[in-house]
Amino acid sequence: MLDEMEKLVSLCKRRGFIFPSSEIYGGINGFWDYGPLGVELKRNLKEAWWRDHVQQRDDMVGLDCSIIMNPRVWEASGHVGGFSDPMVDCRATKERYRADQIFVFAYVLPAVNHKGEPTEAWLAGLGSTPEEAAVVPEKKAAKLAKRFGEPTGPPSVIPYLQLGPGDREKVIGPATDDRGTLTEPRSFNLMFKTFVGALETESSVAYLRPETAQGIFANFKNVLDTGRVKLPFGIAQIGKSFRNEINPRNFTFRSREFEQMEIEYFCRPEEAREWYAYWRTARFQWYVDLGLRSDRLRLRDHGPEELAFYSTATADIEYAFPFGTSELEGIAHRGDYDLKQHQKFSGKDLSYFDEERKERFVPHVVEPSAGADRATLAFLCEAYTEDQVGGEARTVLKFHRRIAPVKAAVLPLVKRDGMPEMAEAIYRELKRRQNVFYDEKGAIGRRYRRQDEAGTPFSITIDGQSLTDGTVTVRDRDSCRQWRVPAAGISRALDDLLEGEVGSGQ
Ligand code: GAP
Repeated sequence: MLDEMEKLVSLCKRRGFIFPSSEIYGGINGFWDYGPLGVELKRNLKEAWWRDHVQQRDDMVGLDCSIIMNPRVWEASGHVGGFSDPMVDCRATKERYRADQIFVFAYVLPAVNHKGEPTEAWLAGLGSTPEEAAVVPEKKAAKLAKRFGEPTGPPSVIPYLQLGPGDREKVIGPATDDRGTLTEPRSFNLMFKTFVGALETESSVAYLRPETAQGIFANFKNVLDTGRVKLPFGIAQIGKSFRNEINPRNFTFRSREFEQMEIEYFCRPEEAREWYAYWRTARFQWYVDLGLRSDRLRLRDHGPEELAFYSTATADIEYAFPFGTSELEGIAHRGDYDLKQHQKFSGKDLSYFDEERKERFVPHVVEPSAGADRATLAFLCEAYTEDQVGGEARTVLKFHRRIAPVKAAVLPLVKRDGMPEMAEAIYRELKRRQNVFYDEKGAIGRRYRRQDEAGTPFSITIDGQSLTDGTVTVRDRDSCRQWRVPAAGISRALDDLLEGEVGSGQ
């Protein structure tokens, strides 16, 4: 499975979907750049989200807030006090880990101390799940057995945070071969700090936002005062967020700079359960409709022990990535917690007056909070396919047409006899409405393969017959089926194809 991820990462680099940030300087951990194809894919995804949730609804408005806000916002939201992860350092390697992502595999190697007495040694692996974390210990167990002796039994798994201090001494860190190099867990705030203005003093400290949600709450009154909205209604925002993640990993899945697509949906308190149920289903279906298969998607309701104290219900939409099943989006019923916090900290009235019922109250909120980069990664994983065409192996990205970076390629069969001229004219016409690509270099089979790898749903080929009867060939990426259409109506024909059902081929 990991092999699948390596192939995808390499395709992303080679074809210009995703590059490591500042790569010519050796990169910077947790930051990524989207290349020419990747930027189109991510934009299409964000635009689909915006169109479906803001522009096509009567009960939603959008916002675009600043990234740096008054630091009091983050006091009110609880991020200054509580937005932290437990961190563990390795004294030997200087590596830093999130303590909740260290799982200890108690293989119980009968190690020997300097006095020759047997002492237990436990192996630590890293991952969001024990299965993910098992990879390193499994490889290492065999190697260390030579030094410490064979494990005394099959492994049992213990989360590092559940070990007592005495037992932590037994642990061999993920990147060492020695026991007891990991420090005790310490709390680490994930917000990036900066200074606003010329002075670098305590009073000029500000933060890069760790979520877009708080900009929405801070503008709740502004939006109400514009007079366009009546409960129930939502405010949506897409934008960058920043978290100084202790251990960025799994390609773009956990980055330090990423984009969120968040909705705060405000309603009457007694209707909040119903709206929560609505968004939980609607958001799941949105991914399915854009091509994520529902057997790889999962809706997981949080148990009571996982809920924030103010939330009565939360569900995660999870996707089975090659590196494990992980969260794509969270849908939380947050009650009136956020607006009340901002009311308290700002001293401003954030209540709503219901004209019909002559009632004043603080609305409750349901928050569907998605990550644009995680969703992009899930769509890339889902689209990645290796199959055979005419006995030849190919790699194809089977994106839904709505999010495919390039919608069609225009290809003259050969570079002579007037074919490039006709192709160029078609390309110019199509380009007015869709993102299309012109390619006349190399054998036609190779050009098709290149488009398959880029996830282009259709290729339009201009051949000898095109010059005599004015028809062109359309090739469907997934089925490789080809058929002829008149060049005269090609723009309309492509629009129709792009609006068709997934994989119908015509
Ligand atoms: N306002 C609620 C909130 O921010 P969250 O679960 O911390 O909730 C929501 O984040 C979504 O943002 C996640 O489901 C994920 O898609 C995305 N996200 C969070 N941290 C991320 C990271 N370090 N890298 C990439 N995406 C991230």
